[in-house]
Amino acid sequence: MGIQLFVPKFDVDACLDEIRECLEKGWTGMGFKTVEIEERWKEYTGLENAYYLNSSTSGLYMACDLFKAELGWDENSEIITTPLTFITTNHAIMQAGLKPVFADVDDTLCLSPDSIREKITPNTKAVMYVGMGGNTGHYDEVVSICKENNLILILDAAHMAGTRLRGEIPGKEADVVVYSFQAVKNLPTADSGMICFKDKKFDEIARKYAWLGINKDTYARTGAGGNYKWKYDVEYVGHKYHGNSVIASIALVQLKHLDEDNARRNCIAKMYSEAFAPYKDKIGTVTIPEDCQTSRHLFQIIVEDRDELLTFLNSKDIFPGVHYIDNTNYRMYSYAQGTCPNADYYSNHILSLPLHLNLTDEDVRTVIDAVIEFVTR
Ligand SMILES: Cc1ncc(COP(=O)(O)O)c(C=O)c1O
Repeated sequence: MGIQLFVPKFDVDACLDEIRECLEKGWTGMGFKTVEIEERWKEYTGLENAYYLNSSTSGLYMACDLFKAELGWDENSEIITTPLTFITTNHAIMQAGLKPVFADVDDTLCLSPDSIREKITPNTKAVMYVGMGGNTGHYDEVVSICKENNLILILDAAHMAGTRLRGEIPGKEADVVVYSFQAVKNLPTADSGMICFKDKKFDEIARKYAWLGINKDTYARTGAGGNYKWKYDVEYVGHKYHGNSVIASIALVQLKHLDEDNARRNCIAKMYSEAFAPYKDKIGTVTIPEDCQTSRHLFQIIVEDRDELLTFLNSKDIFPGVHYIDNTNYRMYSYAQGTCPNADYYSNHILSLPLHLNLTDEDVRTVIDAVIEFVTR
C-alpha cells in the first residue's frame, strides 16, 4: 500500500456505539445526533450558530445562494476569491450566478490582503477566504478590509477544524464559516460539514433551505407531542443539504479526538520542518504566522522539479498530493488565466507530503529521506 497522503483514522468502537444508538432508537436522519453535534460544535468553537450538513460543498453553495437572495445581489455581483483551492470554493460562487474575481495568494498560500484590495470594484459584495491547510494567513487584515469596504466575509474553513488564532477559534468576525468533515479532513466522518452563520436569521433560513424549503423539520414535527404535523409550509425551492444522525455519530466521537489528532499532525509537521531546514534553498515551506496554531491539515513543500519529485516518491511507494492546481487553468475559470502569478507559480511547485494519524515516525523519516535524496541527487 505504501505511504499514502491521507488515511483517516477512526475510534471505531466508540463510533459503532454511537451509531448503534441511532439504529436502536430507529432515528438515523436529521435531528437527534445532528442536533447534538451542532451543540458540541458551538461549544468547541464558540461560534453562535451551527447547522450540520451533508458536506461543506452544500454549505458554501448555500452561503452564496442565501446571501445573494437575502441581500439582493444581482448577476453582476462579484466575490473576490482564491485560485488556489479545491474547485468547490469557486463553483459555489459560480453556481449562485455570481462572478468569481480571482485575487492572488501570498507566501501563506492564502489570499494576499494587498491583492484583495486591488480587486475591489463597485460590484464587489464579498470575499471568499480559504484557510489553506489550516493556516490563517493574514486573516485579521482580511477581516479589516471587509469591514472597511462593507463586504461580506465567507470563510471556507474546510481545512481549519481545530485551527486557532492567538489561542481562539477564528471565525466570529466572518459572516459565515463553513467546515468540512469529509473523510480525509481533520475531523473525519464519511461526508459532512457544518455551516456557522454569524446572524441567527441566516441560520434559520438555512435550516429550511437545506431541506427543500420546508419550514419545519420532521424531527421537530415528530417531537411536537408525538403528532406528525403534515401541514408544513414550503418557503423556498431549496436543496437536500442537511446531515444525518449516522454520520453525525462519527463526528461526535471524532470531535473528542480533534485536538489530540491535530497535536500529532503538528508533531509530524515539525519533524518535516526540522529535517528540511538545512535544505531551505531547495525545499521551500509555507509561511505560517506566529500567532496561528494551525490544524495542520496539510504539510506543503515548494520545490523546483515538483513533477519529477512526485514520480520519484511514487517509485519509492510514497504517494503525496497537490493542493491545488490554480483554478484559472480550468476551462470554467480560464477567463482569469494569468492574473495571479503567485498562485500560478505555487500550482506548479507545491507538493503535499503524507500527513495523517496512521503515520509512524519511521514512515515520516522514510518520506524525509526520500525527499532529501531527490533534492541532493
Ligand atoms: C478548501 C476546500 N473547500 C471545500 C471543500 C469541500 O468539502 P466537502 O467534501 O465537505 O464538500 C474541500 C474539500 O476537499 C476543500 O478542500
